[in-house]
Amino acid sequence: MSTEVIPLDTEPEGELVIRTIAMPKDTNFNGDIFGGWLLAQMDLGGAIAARKLSRSRITTVAIDSMRFRHPVHVGDTVCCHAKLERVGTTSMTYKIIAWVNPMGISEQRCCVTEALFTYVAIDKDGKPIPVIRKAEGSDGVALDKLPKHWSGIGAGFQKTIPPSRQHP
Ligand SMILES: CC(C)(COP(=O)(O)OP(=O)(O)OC[C@H]1O[C@@H](n2cnc3c(N)ncnc32)[C@H](O)[C@@H]1OP(=O)(O)O)[C@@H](O)C(=O)NCCC(=O)NCCS
Repeated sequence: MSTEVIPLDTEPEGELVIRTIAMPKDTNFNGDIFGGWLLAQMDLGGAIAARKLSRSRITTVAIDSMRFRHPVHVGDTVCCHAKLERVGTTSMTYKIIAWVNPMGISEQRCCVTEALFTYVAIDKDGKPIPVIRKAEGSDGVALDKLPKHWSGIGAGFQKTIPPSRQHP
């Protein structure tokens, strides 16, 4: 798998959900950034998107295959982009792609890793609840109040999500 490199002014796919700087405290014994730190940033970014979409508490249920293609160094700007891949009944799957701009001053950004993160909408007791709830609740959105293009949700893929629910 080769490292994808694109010009800085080219917008990667998905919504920007995290932008941060890799710091010395995030390094391993080699002085490189921990893979676990990057995974945590991606999980946070996906959680921001999933929480926004479901308007509820959420939890991570699965992270599918991740390969680190390129090291991250102290001082690099790290951006995580989230692209909604699937909405199930209680779950939402996002492709989270991590990009790095070396030292935050390069003219290019390179793709470090990507993975599928699945989140489940949960109630206050941690039990799964539908992503789109049928009745208006304190943290829910009534199905009959949703725009028409939301009508296939819960049955599989949802292509058109209102912009207000796409980013943090
Ligand atoms: C996530 C959790 C609430 C799910 O509860 P559950 O009773 O097992 O619920 P279900 O088996 O009905 O699964 C709920 C949804 O997750 C999906 N799911 C379960 N395992 C999955 C997996 N490995 N990959 C993708 N989706 C998965 C199910 O398909 C279902 O989605 P759907 O409703 O859209 O069809 C529960 O397992 C849990 O609390 N796990 C711990 C989560 C956690 O602490 N995460 C952070 C780790 S530090």
